[in-house]
Amino acid sequence: MADRIYVWDRFVRLFHWTLVAAFATAYLTGEEDTDLHFYAGYLICALLVSRLVWGFIGGRYARFTNFVTPPAAALGYLKSLVGGPVKHYVGHNPAGAWMVLLLLASLTLTVGSGLRAYGLEGHGPFAVERLPKPDSATMSESEVATLRAARKARHADEEFWEEIHELGANGTLLLVGLHVVGVVVSSLRHRENLARAMVTGYKQGPADEA
Ligand code: HEM
Ligand code: HEM
Repeated sequence: MADRIYVWDRFVRLFHWTLVAAFATAYLTGEEDTDLHFYAGYLICALLVSRLVWGFIGGRYARFTNFVTPPAAALGYLKSLVGGPVKHYVGHNPAGAWMVLLLLASLTLTVGSGLRAYGLEGHGPFAVERLPKPDSATMSESEVATLRAARKARHADEEFWEEIHELGANGTLLLVGLHVVGVVVSSLRHRENLARAMVTGYKQGPADEA
C-alpha cells in the first residue's frame, strides 16, 4: 500500500520555483542591457550557494549523499524507462539526480562566466580597473603602444568569457528541456505527478524506499 511521503522540503520547493522564475528572467533579458539581467543572475548565484549548503545539512532527500549515484545506475534507469519494469524512487531517480547535478554545474558555469564578463567590462563584484583610452597628446609613443596592446588583450578576454556565458546559457536551456521531458516521461511511467510533488512536497510510495 502506497503511503503519502513528505519528500521535497520547503527549502527545495522554494529553491526550485524561484530558480525557474530567475532563470527565465535572466535568459530572456540576456540580450538587453538591463539591470534586471544582473539581479536575476545574482539571485541564481545566491540560490546555487544555498543549495550547495542545503545538500549537506538539508532534509534526507535533499542531501547529495541521498541521490548521487554511479552513472551506470542512471543508464540502467533510462533503459528501464523504455522497456521492462521500472524501479520507483521516493527521492530523485538516478537519471534525474544526474540531471540535477548537470543543471547545477551548468548554471554555475553560466553565472561564473557572466560575472567574469561583467567584471571585465568594469562592473560588478569582480570589476577590474578600466583601461584609459590611448592619448598621443599626453602619452609617449611606447605608452600608447602598450595601452593599445593591453586594451586589445582585454577585449579578447571579454569576448572569450561572453562566448562561454552564451554557451552556458544555451547549454542550460537544453538541459532544462531534457529535464522537463524527463519529468513528464517519469510521471507517465510511474503514474504520479512529479511536478505537483515539487509544489506540495508529497510523493506516493512505501516510506522505507531509497
Ligand atoms: C543563469 C544565469 C544567467 C543566464 C541564463 C544568462 C543569460 C544570458 C544570455 C542568454 C545572454 C546573451 C548572450 C548573447 O547572445 O550575447 C547574456 C548576456 C550577458 N550576461 Fe548573462 N546570464 C546569466 C547570469 C549573468 C550574471 C550573474 C551576470 C553578471 C553579473 C551576467 C552578465 C551578462 C553580460 C555582461 C552579458 C552581455 C554579454 C554580451 O554583451 O554579449 N549574466 N546572459
Ligand atoms: C516548468 C518546468 C519545470 C518543471 C515541471 C520541473 C520539475 C521538477 C521536478 C518534478 C523535480 C524533482 C525531480 C525528481 O522527482 O527527481 C525538479 C528538480 C529540479 N529542477 Fe526542475 N522543473 C522545471 C524547470 C526547471 C528549471 C528551469 C530549472 C533550472 C534552470 C530546474 C532545475 C531543477 C533542479 C536544480 C532540481 C533539483 C531540485 C533539488 O534537489 O534541489 N527545473 N524539477
